[in-house]
Amino acid sequence: MSEEKTEKKEEWKPRLVAYVCNWCTYGGADLAGTSRLTYDTSVRAIKLPCTGRIDPLFIIKAFERGADGVLISGCHPGDCHYNTGNYHARRRWTTFRSLLDFSGIDMRRLHFSWISAAEAGKWVEVINEVSTNLKELGPYKEFKAITEKKEEYDRVFAQ
Ligand code: FES
Repeated sequence: MSEEKTEKKEEWKPRLVAYVCNWCTYGGADLAGTSRLTYDTSVRAIKLPCTGRIDPLFIIKAFERGADGVLISGCHPGDCHYNTGNYHARRRWTTFRSLLDFSGIDMRRLHFSWISAAEAGKWVEVINEVSTNLKELGPYKEFKAITEKKEEYDRVFAQ
C-alpha cells in the first residue's frame, strides 16, 4: 500500500493587532472564548486599561513590527470605566486618522469599534470581518518600504 504524501500549503494569515480595553472588549473576547465561539486566529489582543490610553505611536509601532492591520476597541460611549476615556479616544481618533494617513498608513487597515463585555458575538463578527478584509488586501509591505525610506532619510540628514 502506497501512501500519498500531500503537502499542505500553509495559507497566509494576516497579523491583526487588537488594542482592547480591559473592561469591555477584553471581557467580550474572553466571553467568546469561554462560550467556545470560534473566530479567525489572526488576531493578537493587547489589553490596555482604557481606549483613552491609545497613543498613535502604538499603531505606528504595530505596523512597523509587521502587523497587517490594527483594531482599536473599547467600551460603548457612556460606558467607559473611567467615564470619558472612550470619548477622548474617539476625539483623538478623528485627529489620528489624518496624521496616520499623512504617515502613509493605508487607512483600510485600521479599524475602530465599540464592543462590550457581553458582546462576545460582536467580537467574533468584527474579528472575522476585519481578518477577511485584510486577507483581501494581502500582506502590508508598503509600510516596511516607508520605514526603510525613513532610515535612509535619517542617515542622509545625520551627515
Ligand atoms: S474603560 Fe473601556 S474604553 Fe475606557
